[in-house]
Amino acid sequence: MNRRLGVLISGRGSNLQAIIEAIGSGQLDASIAVVISNRPGAKGLTKALAAGLSTEVLDHKLFASRREYDVALAALLRRYDVELVCLAGFMRLLGSDFVDAFPNAVLNVHPSLLPAFPGVNAQGQALEHGVKVAGCTVHVVTADLDAGPIIAQSAVPVLPADTVETLSARILVQEHRLYPEAIALVLAGGWIVEGRRFLLPV
Ligand code: GRF
Repeated sequence: MNRRLGVLISGRGSNLQAIIEAIGSGQLDASIAVVISNRPGAKGLTKALAAGLSTEVLDHKLFASRREYDVALAALLRRYDVELVCLAGFMRLLGSDFVDAFPNAVLNVHPSLLPAFPGVNAQGQALEHGVKVAGCTVHVVTADLDAGPIIAQSAVPVLPADTVETLSARILVQEHRLYPEAIALVLAGGWIVEGRRFLLPV
């Protein structure tokens, strides 16, 4: 089976790398049709090229409006015949012009236990708030930031001596495990989205 993923990045690309490795090991029965970055210098592009993947840069700065960017991004993914879009550190808000083009087929990994701490610097927000448990969430992307139906979550402890760096690193280990698992779950099908809830087959 060749299930075609499009992976969107803006930076380092460690989650992209985790997806590449899950496919390589046979844990994830899929292929990455294209890796698209909105930032020309994203380090993740080097990881994609090293894995022999097709890459594209779609620089949001070259577009007059969010809507035009969203439409161009959806068209680019269509050109690669992508079935499922995986945001992996993609630091752009996507509006309904994009999301509606891939109904329930855009996923994101976020470094908090949503609905706590959406948006940027989730790990810093968690530390600031003083929570004792943090973690990561894989969710379906909707036009509302970090608010779509939750597919899977993983928790980690927050330790007294934690900094943003140490907590982020602990969460990242879980992201790399959880994201490929959640993608496999979505590709396996049989699930439904009912209101806010992502329900697995019984
Ligand atoms: C991850 O923590 C992800 O949850 C967040 O941005 C970071 C991206 O890291 N959305 P990487 O580019 O996958 O290494």
